[in-house]
Amino acid sequence: MASEKTQEWFSVAINLVKEAGQVVRDAIKKKKNIETKSSAVDLVTESDKAVEKLLIDGLSSAFPDHKFIGEESVAGGEKCVLTAEPTWIIDPIDGTMNFVHSLPYTCISVGLWVDKRAELGIVFNPVLNQMFTAIRGQGAFLNGERIWASGQKELSQALVFAEMGTSLDPVKVDTVLTNITTLMPKVHGLRAMGSCALNMCQVASGGMDVCYEFGVHAWDMAAAYLIIAEAGGTVVDTEGGDFDLMRRRVLCAATPELAAAIAPLLKQYQPQPDGSCN
Ligand code: IPD
Ligand code: CA
Repeated sequence: MASEKTQEWFSVAINLVKEAGQVVRDAIKKKKNIETKSSAVDLVTESDKAVEKLLIDGLSSAFPDHKFIGEESVAGGEKCVLTAEPTWIIDPIDGTMNFVHSLPYTCISVGLWVDKRAELGIVFNPVLNQMFTAIRGQGAFLNGERIWASGQKELSQALVFAEMGTSLDPVKVDTVLTNITTLMPKVHGLRAMGSCALNMCQVASGGMDVCYEFGVHAWDMAAAYLIIAEAGGTVVDTEGGDFDLMRRRVLCAATPELAAAIAPLLKQYQPQPDGSCN
């Protein structure tokens, strides 16, 4: 059983995420006000900001001592620092490009880390009504049903997410394309769908065997990291070593064998880590 405290954190958070889901559902088919951030394809809308405000207002009034790392707050100049204190790590809309185009592969991602360890994770696609959840030590679930990674060990049989990202830096673009060229003849299939958190949840629920990405942020991974771990999957750095939430790189796989087969094939890229420039 999760501690009473964790259970309370979880139930407050999941109710707020459901409320936020209504905001996304109401807005996805409508015209959006779109601004750009780090690049012409790194987008934010009024819904990203509204969802982040709803979540942070609700969580901070329930838990006044807790800390926050929110994508749009960081974009607005807040610090991106993970301490040992309970910290909610929030991506109000992951897959904003998809949301802007009304493509229903988009989600709200909320993770709580305590003592620099993942305590709970919620990833909700409100358009398709898919609620992925995990509490540390309690398993991973999709709409209340237990999920598991696929168990796939063979690279030649693996279905792999090779995500594009939101950076147009030529070195990063070359890394993405080189990795696709290397992997394509070696794996069963390659895909890219545009939401890191949902990609990770597909690995957790066995529909995909691998996802990797360079340039993601803590808020893209904080919740889904625990969902994969609790589903029996593997999350490591893209070179195969320990995963570091702030390092902006991730390799998720159904099994350690699959992660070990893919890591040495990847051309590596190291973006500026989260927290290093603000
Ligand atoms: C992005 C999505 C996308 C990934 C980018 C992320 P956002 O998040 O997860 O799949 O490739 O690296 O930044 O901007 O839609 O929240
Ligand atoms: Ca986002």
